[in-house]
Amino acid sequence: MICLSCTESSLESDLLVIEKNRNFIDIVEIRADFLDAADYKNLVSLPKKTGLPCILTFRRPEDGGVNPGLGRDERAAMMSAALDGGWAYIDIEDDADADSERQLIKDAEAAGTRIIKSFHDFSGVPDNLAERMIENSKGDRYIAKAAVMPENTAGLFKIIDAHRKLRELRISSEGYSCTNGPLFTDYILVGMGACGFPSRVMAAAWGSMLTFSSAGSTKAAPGHISPAELVDVYNYHALTDETELFGIIGNPVMHSKSPALHNAAIRANGLDAVYLPFETADPEIILEHACEINLKGLSVTIPHKQKVLDFAASLDDSVKSIGACNTLVNDKGWRGYNTDWSGFLQPLESEILENRSALVIGAGGAARAVVYALVSRGMKVVIVNRSPEKAEALAADFGCRGGGFELMSEEFSAQNGRQPLLAVQTTSVGTAPNIEGNPVPDFDLSGVGIAYDIIYTPEKTAFLGAAEAAGCRIINGFPMLKAQAARQFHLFTGRPME
Ligand code: ATR
Repeated sequence: MICLSCTESSLESDLLVIEKNRNFIDIVEIRADFLDAADYKNLVSLPKKTGLPCILTFRRPEDGGVNPGLGRDERAAMMSAALDGGWAYIDIEDDADADSERQLIKDAEAAGTRIIKSFHDFSGVPDNLAERMIENSKGDRYIAKAAVMPENTAGLFKIIDAHRKLRELRISSEGYSCTNGPLFTDYILVGMGACGFPSRVMAAAWGSMLTFSSAGSTKAAPGHISPAELVDVYNYHALTDETELFGIIGNPVMHSKSPALHNAAIRANGLDAVYLPFETADPEIILEHACEINLKGLSVTIPHKQKVLDFAASLDDSVKSIGACNTLVNDKGWRGYNTDWSGFLQPLESEILENRSALVIGAGGAARAVVYALVSRGMKVVIVNRSPEKAEALAADFGCRGGGFELMSEEFSAQNGRQPLLAVQTTSVGTAPNIEGNPVPDFDLSGVGIAYDIIYTPEKTAFLGAAEAAGCRIINGFPMLKAQAARQFHLFTGRPME
């Protein structure tokens, strides 16, 4: 189920958010800690107005809640008073044991409201996660819930392991009644933050009764996405533990457009698969544990394109020449490919490049794939870079010229008509945080045929703006992104992206 966490300050506003998202959600959580006190008395009539199963939660400040100045007795009394309204669930902390809280539990059980016993850990993932949840469930008396914050990939895999333990217990206790021993039925388990994101999308597939989402003015917890994104991008309801996983590893990675591109293609091809962002500082953990989560292929982005070379069972020739891998396919070991260089060439497919000149600005990892591509198409390449020695080293590897920015005016001149067919901007200058920047502000681009910036946000960098003003045809990094993704998708699935 997809649960919409409602965090407006009035129930009227919560109902508007619910209405807008009705087509995407199965259940609603009202976070009463966000409400103005004047609305507490109206909680009793809320469930009927939604027409959906509802969870009533009054989260404590130390568990990520808002502090409206109520003590635990007042919170419990306020929740008890709302129970006549037909709440399907109330959520209380697993250490709630004041008299008022025990009374709330009794009242809820008498009202036929199920109790979710939850705990939150904003500092990591406890080693005894599954055990604590099993303890909290008291057989099947309570629904155990945990929201924990994996700080790294090891934390994400602790969550995955807890899911496995909880699922096994659920399967092994099937057919037993509560009186015959522990019957662990529903539980809720999600990881917060960027590292936990895959566990939000895979919540149901891995065993959780629901996942939480936000769509109002405030996110209820770190890492929430909207119900529409869960459905439209990630196809949440179709995912099972048999679903094949693909993804992108990088750091940071949550801004990536790759999930939107790949998931659209997965859906267009009718595949039982999903593509997830894995924000990670330790990609090797994901590569080692891939089989446990049915992970079949990965896009690799900054800063891991070199690091993953050590973990691949085979590398194609372009990876060896470029020294960077942006695609890994899990085929009895990880097979490494590079689709950046061929993706880069795609918008230039109809150009005659052989024996023409190209200027490449920058000498980092991205420049390496660009130079490899241009040299493979027979271009005469000149590389310029802020640090001349890096341009020289890159040029030496590919048999071209390289140096500092002064090499540009030595090689090319607008006045003398000695301009390159192509000028490619490969540095990070022009995107956030240096969004106004242009690494070659003094270079007169008139007479350059095509100016190509591999950045795609913003759509038009300062470099491309100057090139357009000088009369060049301009290309940004988006066609390259799409083309490299299409090649990746074909390597992953054997299917076309379009
Ligand atoms: P990537 O893998 O994205 O290419 P990289 O390997 O770190 O990243 O390379 C970044 C490139 O951007 C380098 O060419 C770098 O120049 P230096 O080699 O002199 O560091 C270039 N770059 C980054 N910031 C720059 C700036 N402010 N001005 C000019 N070039 C810059």
